Amino acid sequence: MDYTMEQYQQSAQALQQRLGDFRPRVLLILGSGLGALADAVENPICVPYAEVPHMKRSTAPDHKGQFVFGKLSGQNVAVMQGRLHTYEGWSFQDVSYPVRVLRLLGAEAMIVTNAAGAVNTSFSAGDIMLITDHIKLFGVSPLCGPNLEEFGPRFPDMSHVYTPALRDVARQTAKALEISLREGVYMYFPGPQYETPAEVRLARTLGADAVGMSTVPEAIVAAHCGMQVLGFTLCTNMAAGVLESPLSSDEVLEAAAQAGPRFGALVKGCLARL
Ligand code: HPA
Repeated sequence: MDYTMEQYQQSAQALQQRLGDFRPRVLLILGSGLGALADAVENPICVPYAEVPHMKRSTAPDHKGQFVFGKLSGQNVAVMQGRLHTYEGWSFQDVSYPVRVLRLLGAEAMIVTNAAGAVNTSFSAGDIMLITDHIKLFGVSPLCGPNLEEFGPRFPDMSHVYTPALRDVARQTAKALEISLREGVYMYFPGPQYETPAEVRLARTLGADAVGMSTVPEAIVAAHCGMQVLGFTLCTNMAAGVLESPLSSDEVLEAAAQAGPRFGALVKGCLARL
């Protein structure tokens, strides 16, 4: 469904009423394993997605489905504790809806994280990858439909979706915290089924380093409306066909939980330097 400017504004107004004079500067969209970071937000104001007009609910496992507004690492943040995915039946416009709402509330930057399968065979399960670029060949664009000029142009440039200056911040932060950081290209697959080994070979041939089911719609919409974007992937497993063993969501959640503290420290460290 195509949302109108009025709908985005209604959502922003409803949230602003809850927030008083608090203005979020950074939007954090947290994938599997990092939901706990929202619990570290100081003076939290929690708003369930169900209370935001026009916004869809999050149904994925381990995804709570609320905004948490407050201070984290000294920054005014809006944390999405649980994101929306297209495999839940939502459209790309639904999934990226909150990005535009937060832009209207004044957010200038977005940090987005996800769990994914490592396609690059020099990576290991548990590695954190700084997203340098993405590939999205599946489905239409979240920008399809009438263009809302208030947000950005009809044909936006996608040369630097993942802001180079923020990537530098991530490298510096990882170094300071002695957290090893891979870098690479994230390829979007719609899911909810994991990829086949042949699809993973295709992704590798195209230049992808990790495959996952999220992040890209939000990143496109954020770049379109002029937000800076920083993206991290937690490689919870080697992608299908790299190893003999089948993939399981229990394994993914377990790996995500295990890496949670290290991943959280990296995100908080980056936030402090923004
Ligand atoms: N593929 C897609 N999404 C994922 C994976 C994967 O291998 N692991 C965690 N999320």
